Amino acid sequence: MTHSTEELLNLLKDKYLQSGDDLNTHLEGLLHAKPVTYWDYIQVNSILSAQTPRTNEPDEMVFIVYHQINELIFKMILWEIDQVAVKEKLEIDFFAEKLSRISRYFDLLSNSFEIMTKGMDVQQYMKFRTTLTPASGFQSAQYRLIEFASTELINLIDNRFRKTIDHNTPFEHAYDHLYWQAAGKDHTTGKKSTLIRLFEEKYMDDFITFMKYYHKTNLWSRYKELPEAAQQNLKLKNTMRHYDHTVNIKWVMYHYQTAAKYLKSSPEVKATGGSDWQKYMHPKYQKRIFFPELWTTEEQESWGVDNLNNHPVLAN
Ligand code: HEM
Repeated sequence: MTHSTEELLNLLKDKYLQSGDDLNTHLEGLLHAKPVTYWDYIQVNSILSAQTPRTNEPDEMVFIVYHQINELIFKMILWEIDQVAVKEKLEIDFFAEKLSRISRYFDLLSNSFEIMTKGMDVQQYMKFRTTLTPASGFQSAQYRLIEFASTELINLIDNRFRKTIDHNTPFEHAYDHLYWQAAGKDHTTGKKSTLIRLFEEKYMDDFITFMKYYHKTNLWSRYKELPEAAQQNLKLKNTMRHYDHTVNIKWVMYHYQTAAKYLKSSPEVKATGGSDWQKYMHPKYQKRIFFPELWTTEEQESWGVDNLNNHPVLAN
């Protein structure tokens, strides 16, 4: 759409008239305004100065920056999911488009995880990791938000407690039985670890608010609102399965293999967050599934055991 200068001036006049502003003042502002630059717009300096290594080990920079990249991509994922959540008249094309963007972002994270697995010197990692205790990626709030925003809460509840939780359960109670609470407790005493105590001090209120917000607007609930024919659309179902598989098997498995490489390098090494990581992180134990109804019982039972790289695509 192109406008003549005169048309543009008239449109601007109308715009500012409506908000009670003076067009001439705005035009004069343009005369004095500095030109936009790439570095200001993209905030390059802020991003490049946001790394504070705790040691002089060069590979610590790889570790920090890659985590930051993950957090930025998490932000992009949440951005898309929220557009699905607030969409008034949800239609299949819009839903499918957003879902494929979300999937692509998570694919990027999975496909780049080798930066962690292969891209750091083990000796250097073993040095700088000790300065990070008790912090852990476990404390990534955005990762938790993605989970709340993707599925119904029941699918995030620890398997052992699912029968005790239903739609009448208060959110606070459900929160205490989320699957990841298991990594934040001392197995022998049941006491919460510093890792989770600090995490909750900072984010617990936000999590409860978010759980309520996405209670009926998470991706799964919104999918179920689509007409039956749309829900049965093969391409859409496959995109949903792809997302579920990427987040809950592929990424989790790369993550697990990375932890195994570093933490198994020395038998006495413990995870910085202090979890029983070998058991906790493997998808075959957690069996975390966002959209269980889209998987057969057999597929659910073998979750995290088979098909680690690619899930079977539905043909009909
Ligand atoms: C050398 C690289 C890495 C190692 C060795 C590692 C190790 C671990 C371990 C052992 C845990 C379990 C909690 C604990 O006791 O600390 C954990 C949790 C977690 N880490 Fe990592 N991690 C690495 C990289 C990353 C990266 C790049 C991210 C991206 C943000 C990340 C995000 C997470 C998340 C979200 C959890 C919680 C997962 C869950 O609850 O299932 N980690 N990590």
